[in-house]
Formats: sequence, C-alpha cells, structure tokens
Amino acid sequence: MDHERKNRPLTSRHLLGLEGLAAEEIKTILDASEAMKEILDRPIKKVPTLRGVTVVNLFFEASTRTRISFELAEKRLSADLVNFTKIGSSVSKGETLLDTARNIEAMRVEVVVIRHQSPGAPGFLADRLHSVVINAGDGAHEHPTQALLDMLTLRQKFGDLKGLRVAILGDISHSRVAMSNVYGLKAMGAEVMLCGPPTLMPRNIDALGVKVSYKVDEAIAWADALNVLRLQLERQQSALLPSLREYALTFGITLQRLGKAKRTPVILHPGPINRGVEIESAVADSDASVILDQVTNGVAVRMAVLVLLSAPEVLM
Ligand code: CP
Repeated sequence: MDHERKNRPLTSRHLLGLEGLAAEEIKTILDASEAMKEILDRPIKKVPTLRGVTVVNLFFEASTRTRISFELAEKRLSADLVNFTKIGSSVSKGETLLDTARNIEAMRVEVVVIRHQSPGAPGFLADRLHSVVINAGDGAHEHPTQALLDMLTLRQKFGDLKGLRVAILGDISHSRVAMSNVYGLKAMGAEVMLCGPPTLMPRNIDALGVKVSYKVDEAIAWADALNVLRLQLERQQSALLPSLREYALTFGITLQRLGKAKRTPVILHPGPINRGVEIESAVADSDASVILDQVTNGVAVRMAVLVLLSAPEVLM
C-alpha cells in the first residue's frame, strides 16, 4: 500500500477502515462531505468531477443503504459505474474473490467498492490490485463510511465532536459499525461508551479505551447521543441471547425507558432497523431520531471519499 501523502489529502490511497486515521484526515473527509451536501441540495444534483473514472460496486453481501448510496454518489459525480452482486455471478461456478476482482479490473476499472462477509477482504484486494479500494463493510471488522456519516450527522447536530458523549448499544462484538465508530469518534476527541449484554461484548474491550456498561439506563443517562445497533444474527455462531423478546425487554430503546432520563439523547441507528427488538417504532420515528439524516448524509460522505481518493486535486 502506498503511504506517501504527497499531493493527496489522505495518507492512504485506499479507505479500508478508520483505525489509524488521524483527526485531521477525518476532518478533511467531513468538511468535503459538507461541500458535497451543497451539490445534493441543488435542483440539478450532478457535477462532472469523476467523468472518465470507472467504479465497480462489488457486493458479496446484502445491502440497501450502502449499495444505493455509493451508486447515487457515483452518479452525482458523473463516474461510470458497474454493479456486481454475488447472486448471478461466476462465484457460483467457483471463481475466487481475487480472480473476480482482477477480471473486472482488466476491463479498465479504477475504483473498487467492496462489501464482503470476510474481515480483511478489502485489504486483501488493496494489496493485489492497482485500483483504489473502498471498504463498504467487511464482516465484523470495519464499515468506515457508515461511521463517517454517523460522525457527520453528530457534528451537524452538536457542532463539534470533541468531548461529545456517544453510547453505542447492542451487539458490539459482531458490529463493524461499532468498531469504526470507536476508532473515528476517539480520534476526534469524543467519549465513547459501549453498552450491551456481556455475551455480545468483545473480549479485548479494555484495549479500545472506552467506557463499558451492561445497563442500558446508565448509558441513556450518560450519553448525548445513542447509536443503537441491530442484532447481527447472521454473524452469531451460537445462541448468545435467551430470546429476542428478552433482549427487547432488557436492552430495547423505548419511549418509556428514555422518559426516565433527565434529557433525551439524540438517537442514531445504522439500519436496517428491527422495529420492536433493539428499538421501538415510537423512538425510531420520534423527533429525537436522526436516522434518516444519517441516510441522507451517507451519499455526501461517499461522494467525498470517492473524490478525495480518485480526484483529490479538485479539493486541494
Ligand atoms: N447501514 C448499512 O450498512 O446498511 P445496509 O446493510 O443496508 O447497507
């Protein structure tokens, strides 16, 4: 990987995760995202910035928000794009990830956006392809553009991330969103609390430098913002909870539970939501919720990342 930063606003030529990114780099992406938001508010939401750049969206795992958000970001920037989904591809005939990616790259693709169930798949490709690689979520490892859009939403709401108290609730050990948020928020000077059942907390939690709580009421009372996570049942290898009903009763965010706190924190959720499990509909649709603002910000963040990595001179 190229770590030279000459003539580039970001250290790496790929975005594989937020671990190790400096506050200055995250601020550069968030500031560029604000500039992209201005484009999205115009009557004609399209600029020629990435004309001539070809992007492939390689999605080996299900997605609604991230896939459509990247696709819209590419279209708004006038890039040429192709979409790959595992279903219907030659993966079913035994083709490997690397062969798939190399064959697509041979068609003169410059940027690879990849979502994959295996942690490290984007880094594996970044080491072997000529293209810029952007991680759109790899197993339980990282989901950097999700955390960036979460941080952009929080910055818009609170003005500054420094000193902000953010609690991340739920299935921490299977969550790439939690990991990217921890790295990003800590780099920006926020305080982070992880809260959930002990069976859904990672073993190395002390190394993350965060507060830990197993009581949701404690997290609600402490936090300026709560990022509520979905139970990632597809990544759980064994029964880690007695039942979804029990989880909803113990950890589900309800209006009644929020009402016990002195003030209501801002509510985030990366989606997809399991209404009535980790969050009650009345909370997800309440004035405290910024869930749809997160989705709107996702397009701007992905535009910013695409420009910063493939046409940085535009923003320098
Ligand atoms: N937040 C998120 O990654 O959603 P999708 O799985 O729908 O892309």
